[in-house]
Amino acid sequence: MASVPSLASTVQQRLADALSAALPEAGTADPLLRRSDRADFQANGILALAKKLKGNPRELATQVVTALNSGSTAGTGDGDVVKDIEVSGPGFLNITITDRAITETLAARAADERLGVPYAADAGTTVIDYAQPNVAKEMHVGHLRSAVIGDAMVQILEFAGEKVVRRHHIGDWGTQFGMLIQYLIEHPHELDHKDGVSGEEAMSNLNRLYKAARAVFDTDEEFKARSRDRVVQLQSGDEETLALWQKFVDESKIYFNSVFEKLDMEIRDADVVGESGYNDMLDETCRILEESGVAVRSEGALCVFFDDVKGPDGNPVPLIVKKSNNGYGYAATDLSAIRNRVQSLDANTLLYVVDARQSLHFKMVFETARRAGWLNDKVKAHQLAFGTVLGKDGKPFKTREGETVRLVDLLDEAIDRATSVVREKAEKVGLSEQEIVENGRYVGIGAVKYADLSTSAVRDYKFDLDQMVSLNGDTSVYLQYAYARVQSIKRKAGERRPVAHADLPLAPAERALGLHLDQFGEVLAEVASSYEPHKLAAYLYQLASHLTTFYDQCHVLSDDNAPEVVENRLFLVDLTGRTLHQGMALLGIRTPERL
Ligand code: ARG
Repeated sequence: MASVPSLASTVQQRLADALSAALPEAGTADPLLRRSDRADFQANGILALAKKLKGNPRELATQVVTALNSGSTAGTGDGDVVKDIEVSGPGFLNITITDRAITETLAARAADERLGVPYAADAGTTVIDYAQPNVAKEMHVGHLRSAVIGDAMVQILEFAGEKVVRRHHIGDWGTQFGMLIQYLIEHPHELDHKDGVSGEEAMSNLNRLYKAARAVFDTDEEFKARSRDRVVQLQSGDEETLALWQKFVDESKIYFNSVFEKLDMEIRDADVVGESGYNDMLDETCRILEESGVAVRSEGALCVFFDDVKGPDGNPVPLIVKKSNNGYGYAATDLSAIRNRVQSLDANTLLYVVDARQSLHFKMVFETARRAGWLNDKVKAHQLAFGTVLGKDGKPFKTREGETVRLVDLLDEAIDRATSVVREKAEKVGLSEQEIVENGRYVGIGAVKYADLSTSAVRDYKFDLDQMVSLNGDTSVYLQYAYARVQSIKRKAGERRPVAHADLPLAPAERALGLHLDQFGEVLAEVASSYEPHKLAAYLYQLASHLTTFYDQCHVLSDDNAPEVVENRLFLVDLTGRTLHQGMALLGIRTPERL
């Protein structure tokens, strides 16, 4: 395993060296290197530097060019990275890379199973809180987002070398269980079924029970009172009550797991640590907060106040860690979870993939934890907040009857549509029925994931299946076809192998594809540190677009090509395929070999 520095970072380093050689007084200045349309790269940093040094930018730029040119001959042995560097405009530098350097760098990437992507130098432990549905409740599109974005971040962080601990903070505790358990006691066979019940059956059982319990609860005062007593029993750890509670949890897990499986996502039982998992920490959490003065009594409740959190009436809105009836809520659990994650799991980073509508809650929880010293400069918390899923009409996604859309129905519909897209082309590709069904699943689920991952998470996005499974445009299907096309070319190549030939001149489309391939590691590093998977999606989409242009302009297997040209083009195609495959895998999306 060898990490390969990108051409951009090599050139950046050369420029920085040339800068300090030409202008020792500049200190360490950033040349601000960017990809450019005019040359391969453009450096814009001289302008700001000239301003600082009160010099003429074009003159400074010329000095840097001279320093770079003399440096590279004296230089590091591979002085032929920069083919051409020229001053342009008010003091930009346009830089062109040699074809040889491009091919050699890509060959080094191809020789590495990680495609030359380095491990992060500052890797630590991240506890990521994602995919957190609620027991005895239907999952909704918000839970889908958390699962999809969270799963992608897990893969991306692990690939970067981070130790990742997954936590599924499911809603498995609270007063509603009093009502459910009491109802089950009074109607003991409601959750009975044979083994091997499907996820959907499990959920519909729970739904039916929930509705029935609710109806009695809302009309029968005595049942209501019995339900309240039942909450007390549950909280005091009464065994019979706990066993029934566990039944609800288990039944729900059957359902959750079926949805996660449909999503082609691995959720491990050991990582499911719901709200109830912190029960025996709650008292202590509150005691520490109260004793340290972080939390104070107010109107009988234990509260934390913030200068900048006020209600519409101008009065402060506190975070309530213990209610006046001594009950604990969402805040106490989250604060205890922080202690656990920091002190027992040794996290350096706590990442929460949660709906933006909970941002105020997390702002207050994080600030409280900071005051208590659980979070500090070495241990940070971050909410990867995501926006609302909207229907085609731009309103929050609901059925026509105004009900929450069932996740399973949605995924099934995506799979159906995708399967017909796959079927249309299947004969030409020669797919068997089994392959059609399997690819339909990969394409449908990929479409849903990609739509979620390809826009910045905090923005709301429209759930539009027609758009999602479209073959053109920024969709996963487009990327999956690009990958399948790579595989098809490799099959057609027969005996001809992908081999890099650094002596060959490259066509413009080959250079563009090559330079983009070379950026993979940098994009991943950025995505891992900024928690922005949409930037990886954008990179992959551009990669597929470069590949399309390359196919149009450069024939790969043509008999008119010299054998080395065929080999070198196959090499580019192959590396593109591997990069697409790796990138898509990090997003949780499959790349079928034939489509
Ligand atoms: N179960 C919650 C919901 O459905 C999300 C939990 C988020 N995580 C947390 N640590 N509070 O909205």
